[in-house]
Amino acid sequence: MHNPFNPSFGKIPPVLLGRKEIQEDYLEELDNPNTPYQTAIVYGMRGVGKTTFLTEVSQKLSKKEDWLVVDLAMGNNLLENLIDDLYRKSTNKIKKILDTLKGISFSAVGLQISASLGKPTVSTYQGILQSILMTLTNQGIHVLITIDEVKATKELRSFVAFYQLLIRKNLFVNLLMTGLPENVSELQNEDVLTFLLRSPRIGLSALSLFEINLAYKKVFSQSRIELSDEVAEMMTKMTKGYSYAFQLLGYLAWKKGKKIGEVTADVLSDLLPTYIAELEKNSYTKIYQEFSEKDQEFLQAMAMMDENVISVTEIRNKLGKSSGYISMYRRRLLDAQVIETRGYGKITFTLPYFKEFVNEMEKFKW
Ligand SMILES: Nc1ncnc2c1ncn2[C@@H]1O[C@H](COP(=O)(O)OP(=O)(O)OP(=O)(O)O)[C@@H](O)[C@H]1O
Ligand SMILES: [Mg+2]
Repeated sequence: MHNPFNPSFGKIPPVLLGRKEIQEDYLEELDNPNTPYQTAIVYGMRGVGKTTFLTEVSQKLSKKEDWLVVDLAMGNNLLENLIDDLYRKSTNKIKKILDTLKGISFSAVGLQISASLGKPTVSTYQGILQSILMTLTNQGIHVLITIDEVKATKELRSFVAFYQLLIRKNLFVNLLMTGLPENVSELQNEDVLTFLLRSPRIGLSALSLFEINLAYKKVFSQSRIELSDEVAEMMTKMTKGYSYAFQLLGYLAWKKGKKIGEVTADVLSDLLPTYIAELEKNSYTKIYQEFSEKDQEFLQAMAMMDENVISVTEIRNKLGKSSGYISMYRRRLLDAQVIETRGYGKITFTLPYFKEFVNEMEKFKW
C-alpha cells in the first residue's frame, strides 16, 4: 500500500480536502455566458493549494466535450504555445476547419506560418489566435486558459491586454490565473490591466481543522494504523490548517505508523524535528525571503514575544515606530497571509511553527 499523503508541490494528492464547493461554484459559473468569472484569479500564500486547485479544475473541465483547456506556463511564447495547444487538443473535425485558415498550417512540429504573411510578429500570432478562437466559438467550443503563478512580467501584461480585446469580441474564451497575493495585487493595479480589478478573486485560505481531523482518523483507520482521538487531535493542531503541513505530517506519521502499527504522542514528538525541518526547507525559507527587511523586522518582533496571540501595541513599543508605520506593515503581512487577526488589536502567526522558524533565522543571521 502506498502512502496516501503527498507532500510534493503542484501534484494532486490522493487525500484532498475542502475546496469542493468553491470549485463547483466556479465550474458552474463558467456555464453562464454572462459570468463575471470569465476572468478569475486564484490567490493565496505558498503551499495553500493554488496549483492543486487549478489542476483539478483543468482536469474536470477537459472531460467536457465542448471545452478545451490549455495550461500555459509563465515565460516566453505564451501566444505560440496557446495556438499550438488549441490545435493539438481540437477534434479532427475542428482540425480540418483550422487547416483551411489562410497563411498557416500545422504539422507535427507545430504551427507553420507561410511566407506570404511576412516575418511573424506578435500581431501575426494575435491574428492567428483570434481566427482560431472565432472558429472554435462558431463550433460551440469554449476555451479555458490557465496560467499558474502569474507575475506582472512584460509578456504576461501584453498577453492579458490582448485577451481583454478577445473577450470584448464575445469569443468563448476564459482565463483562470493563480498567484501569490502580492503578485496578484501588482498585476491588478497595472495601468493597462485595470479591467482585472473587476475580475473576481478566489481566495484560498486554511483548510478546516474539522476536516483535517476527520481525514487523519479515516485514513489511518483504513490503513490499520492505530491512532487515538487524542493523538489525531494533536496532529490536527500541529498543521494549523496549512495544506502543505497537512500532507507533510500525514506522510511522515503514516510512514512511521505503517512500520510499528500505531501513531502515539511519542511518535509525534520524535517526528517533530523532521516535520519542522521540511516545512522550513520547502516552504518557510521561500516565504521569508520574499519579504522586505522591514517586513522581516516586524515578524522578528512578533516571534520574540512569549505569547502566541500578540498585541499590536506591544510590537509598536518594541520597534519604537509610529502607529502609521506599524499599521502599514501589519496590513502587508495580513495581505500576504502569514499573520491573521485575533480579536481587536491582536495578531498571530498563521503557519505552524513559523514563530520558531523566525527565531531560528535570527539566531543564524550574519
Ligand atoms: N485541498 C487540499 N487538500 C489537501 N491537501 C492539499 C489541498 N490542496 C493542496 N494540498 C497540498 O498542499 C501542498 C501545496 O499545494 P500546491 O502545490 O497546490 O500549493 P500552491 O499554493 O500552488 O503553492 P506555491 O505557491 O508554492 O506554488 C501539496 O502538498 C498539496 O498536496
Ligand atoms: Mg503552485
